[in-house]
Amino acid sequence: MAAPKRTVPGLLILLYGCAVMAVDLYSVNLNPVVQEYQRVELSCVIRHTNTNNPRIEWKKIRNGDTSYVYFETLILGDLKNRAEIKGGSSLVIHNTSRTDNGRYRCEVAAPEDPKRFAEITVNLTVTVKPIVPQCRVPKSVPVGKSAVLHCQESEGYPSSVYRWYRNSDALPEDSKANPKFLNSSFTLNISTGTLAFAAVNKGDMGPYYCIASNAAGSARCEAQLLEVYDLNIAGIIGGILVVVLVLVLITVGICCAYRKGYFANSRPNGQSYKNHSKSDGVNYLRTSDEGDFRHKSSFVI
Ligand SMILES: *[C@@H]1O[C@H](CO)[C@@H](O)[C@H](O)[C@H]1NC(C)=O
Ligand SMILES: *[C@@H]1O[C@H](CO)[C@@H](O)[C@H](O)[C@H]1NC(C)=O
Ligand SMILES: *[C@@H]1O[C@H](CO)[C@@H](O)[C@H](O)[C@H]1NC(C)=O
Ligand SMILES: *[C@@H]1O[C@H](CO)[C@@H](O)[C@H](O)[C@H]1NC(C)=O
Repeated sequence: MAAPKRTVPGLLILLYGCAVMAVDLYSVNLNPVVQEYQRVELSCVIRHTNTNNPRIEWKKIRNGDTSYVYFETLILGDLKNRAEIKGGSSLVIHNTSRTDNGRYRCEVAAPEDPKRFAEITVNLTVTVKPIVPQCRVPKSVPVGKSAVLHCQESEGYPSSVYRWYRNSDALPEDSKANPKFLNSSFTLNISTGTLAFAAVNKGDMGPYYCIASNAAGSARCEAQLLEVYDLNIAGIIGGILVVVLVLVLITVGICCAYRKGYFANSRPNGQSYKNHSKSDGVNYLRTSDEGDFRHKSSFVI
C-alpha cells in the first residue's frame, strides 16, 4: 500500500522537474520555403537549459539517408562554404541550392540538465524557377482532325503547371467551360502541359504559346502558328481525275508516236547517216567537190 502512494508524488515531481529543468527547443519556422540561390535560416532556438555549453549538432535527412551538416563546431560536406551557425544553434544557408531540399534535424545535448537531450526537425523546401518550356505545335491540320500541342520543362520545383494561350487569350482546361471557346473542342491538362483538340476548326487557327509556372516563377515559349485548312473532298477527287487524265494523254501520245514509227525510224536514220559519212564514197565525192571548188577559186585569183 505504501509503495504506490510514494511513487505517484515522486513521478509527479520528476515530470515537473523535467518541464522546468529540461533542455527545451523551439523553431520560428518548421517549414521554411526559399528560392534557389537565396538565403534561408533553419531556426532552432534553445528556450531553456541549465548547461553552459550544450552540444549542438545538425543532421540532414534526405531520401532516408542521414548525414552530418554541423558537427563539433564545423560545417561539413556540401554546405561547407555556404552555411554558418547563428545565435548558437540556428543554421543559416547563404546560397541555397536545389540539392538542399530535405529535412534538417537540430540536436542538442545538455549534460547538466535532468533531461539531457532535445531535437527539432525543420523541413526545408528550395524552389527552382521553371526554364523556358519546350513547345510543340503542329504546323497545319485539316478541319475536323484531332491535334495535340505539347508543353514541357523539367527544371522547375515544385513541378510546373502549364497554361496555353491563343492570341494571348488563356485557354481554359475544358473548352466547354467557357462560351468564348464554344466552337472549339479541346482539353488542357495543366500538369502535363498537353492541349488536345478532338477536332480542330477554322477558329482554332492562330499563334499558340505556353507558360510554365510554379511558386518560384514562370517562363514561356515563343508563339507558334497552328494553321487549319479545309480538306475539300470534291477538290481532291478533281485533282486525282486531272492526274489520271494527264497520265492517259501521255500514254496515248507515246502509243501514237510508236505507231507512226517516230521512234523506230529516227534512230536507224541517224546511224546510217553517220556510217555513210564515214564511207569512202562520200568522202571521195566531197573532196573532189572541194577540189573542184579550190581549183575554181585559185583560178579566179
Ligand atoms: C550561388 O551558387 C551558385 C552555384 O550553385 C553560383 O553560381 C552563384 O554565383 C552563387 N551566388 C553567390 C551570391 O554566391
Ligand atoms: C516538407 O514540405 C513540403 C512542402 O513544403 C512537403 O511537400 C513535404 O511533404 C514536407 N515533408 C515532410 C516530411 O514534412
Ligand atoms: C462560332 O461559329 C459560328 C459560325 O461559324 C460563328 O457565327 C460564331 O461567331 C462563332 N463563335 C465564336 C465564339 O467564335
Ligand atoms: C493529366 O495527366 C495525368 C498524367 O497523364 C493524369 O494522371 C491526370 O489525370 C490528367 N489530368 C486531367 C485533368 O486529365
